[in-house]
Amino acid sequence: MKRNVQEEVAKLISEMTIEEKVAQTSQLAYTQMPKERAEEYARKGVGSFLHVLGDDAKHLQDLATSNGKKIPLIFGIDAIHGHCLKKNATVFPTQLSMACSFNTELVEQMADATAKEVAADGLHWTFSPVLCLGRDIRWGRVAETFGEDKYLAGELGSAMVRGYQGDDLSADGKILACAKHYIGYGEATGARDSYDTEVTYRKVRAEFLPPFERVVKDGCASIMTAYGAIDGIPCTANKKLMTDILKTELGFEGFVVTDWDNVRHLIRKQCVAENFEDASEIALNSGNDMMMKTEDYIEAAVRLVKEGRVDESVLDEAVRRILTAKMELGLFDNPYKRLDESVIGAAEHQQLSYELAKECVVLLKNEDVLPLKKDEKCKKIVVIGCNADSVRDMYGDWTYFTHPDPNFDAEPVRPYVTFIEGMLGLKDDFNCEIVHAKGCGILENDEAQLDEAFKLIADSDLVVYTFGDDIYQTGEAKDRADMSLTKAQGEVFDRLTKTGKPIVSVMIASKPMCVPEIVENSKAFLTAFNPGAYGGKVLAETVFGLNNPCGKLPISFPNHVGQQPCYYNYLPGWHCKKYVDMPQRPLFVFGEGLSYTKFEYSDVAFDKDSLTLSVKVKNVGERAGKEIIQVYFRDVVSSVITPVKQLIAFKKIELASGEAQEYKFTFTEKDFSLVLPDERRVMEKGELEVMVGASSDDESLIKICFVQDKTVEIK
Ligand code: BGC
Repeated sequence: MKRNVQEEVAKLISEMTIEEKVAQTSQLAYTQMPKERAEEYARKGVGSFLHVLGDDAKHLQDLATSNGKKIPLIFGIDAIHGHCLKKNATVFPTQLSMACSFNTELVEQMADATAKEVAADGLHWTFSPVLCLGRDIRWGRVAETFGEDKYLAGELGSAMVRGYQGDDLSADGKILACAKHYIGYGEATGARDSYDTEVTYRKVRAEFLPPFERVVKDGCASIMTAYGAIDGIPCTANKKLMTDILKTELGFEGFVVTDWDNVRHLIRKQCVAENFEDASEIALNSGNDMMMKTEDYIEAAVRLVKEGRVDESVLDEAVRRILTAKMELGLFDNPYKRLDESVIGAAEHQQLSYELAKECVVLLKNEDVLPLKKDEKCKKIVVIGCNADSVRDMYGDWTYFTHPDPNFDAEPVRPYVTFIEGMLGLKDDFNCEIVHAKGCGILENDEAQLDEAFKLIADSDLVVYTFGDDIYQTGEAKDRADMSLTKAQGEVFDRLTKTGKPIVSVMIASKPMCVPEIVENSKAFLTAFNPGAYGGKVLAETVFGLNNPCGKLPISFPNHVGQQPCYYNYLPGWHCKKYVDMPQRPLFVFGEGLSYTKFEYSDVAFDKDSLTLSVKVKNVGERAGKEIIQVYFRDVVSSVITPVKQLIAFKKIELASGEAQEYKFTFTEKDFSLVLPDERRVMEKGELEVMVGASSDDESLIKICFVQDKTVEIK
């Protein structure tokens, strides 16, 4: 029989003591306390643990469901691009990498597969997707984002939430999603992780809220607050953001969880509270429902409610939201909901990781050198560079190499294919000799190793230079001031250019790097950021033409770190439009990416009444390929400054050689809207420009204008 969730939850709450209710609003970190203490908390009915795996979770659940009110625990885990804190789980491309695919279906399937692997471990909740925007590549967490654009982040985030949660949370293999970090976290001044964010609420609504709004509509079960602060108020202490906007205005029905130890941060880092009582009072009264990692919160909150500093109804509301999620997940019927362990790392998930990685490869330069052919020009290939054989740099952040505690030298678990393994796997088919010379590390050179490498190059036909970053240069609290090639890798490249050999450069890095010298001196340049377990295979297959690249950049590549922030939807008004010592165009722009075939856009029309755009796309090249059609708009004259262009739709298509098709995109008034200083959203009257094409670059867009004759308020 179907449960009456709200009735049952209300009844349960009416029977709970203040201590039991406060315990439910607390999430504790399993790896940060002795096992006995965790067991004690489970018996006392704490709401959740994070970072517990498999049988340990089962043991804690046994304790929780056989003591006190017998309320099941929910276990949270950072399954960010697969359940990869677990060693044998499937490792998918990182968020930034999968964003290159612009493929909502594959992203949804990856989240569905991840949910199953998480569920097979007896866990119920992933702290994903990340909806922060990566608009300054110095920020350590850019690789966790879907890139710089709010629309793309919203579409891919929504796909992920659907994949994790499905239509029915109580179904087997479905878990809670958690959209994070709410809000403006990627915009911190100077790209300094967790630092203050200097933005207005108008900007919050215009730029950072839309992806969250999107997933709230999809029923995303939880939202995590950001570490940072908006206009001096830490996000965890921000009633306007959490209660007024998120819960009241957007109608968010799930629960809000703080980020790691955020309640303590109010005291120790942000200095807006003197002690745990004050911090807990602020946290509860501003709208957090569950406090992550702050053990001291528990006693403080009990005292606060008993003393009346926090009204019991505030606590009840937090508990209601948490228990509702637990009940909707089906934990009151089956607290384990554990799928068979064979699901973890299953063959079909590995296949999916491979399929997704194929779509994440972005080819950014190609002077008639790729794909490599079986011919005399390609008899001996030297692959040089340290990331060519590095599993952990294929994987990137948030795997067992990095969390819950860093273990950079952990023994990697198969299956995976590094780039050099992928290349060697194809040498017989292409009848060539392939040798690998590491040449250098990310940070240091070994002269003897280098001399050895250059001896190999002397009689080679082509060099594949693999460069990038390492996992100690990316992630939380790993912001960088210098985004150029490290000295060691730069020296190798300089020496390479002097050999006169044709160079194909393959970047295996967490995020864009400022490498104009590499682009200029290479015949071809490609990347897939951190492409996961099969990244090496798909990059090699792309080099040899077995995979036709179809990824596009979700983020711009600046020429120089001094150009930060650098994103396609910048605001007009900069006097010189460029730094005098830099080209105006970034090295690569948002939406850019080549294929081994060519697409032609034509027959663009826009129907003003139905707000429908149509466009014809033809594959005019010699092989089948996938293309990402992008639609942007600009409000030509607006009452507030609006971006020079803004993505409002995209579509991934596939066309055979010679095939042409017409595609239609229908919009709503909201798609053409802006946010006024009083925080209302409107579509303003006047001229609007719609642009369609293959990238955000003006040269690849066909433009069409229409006039909107009245201003419309958007609800
Ligand atoms: C990060 C979150 C993460 C949490 C739990 C925090 O430091 O900011 O993204 O989900 O830790 O691991």
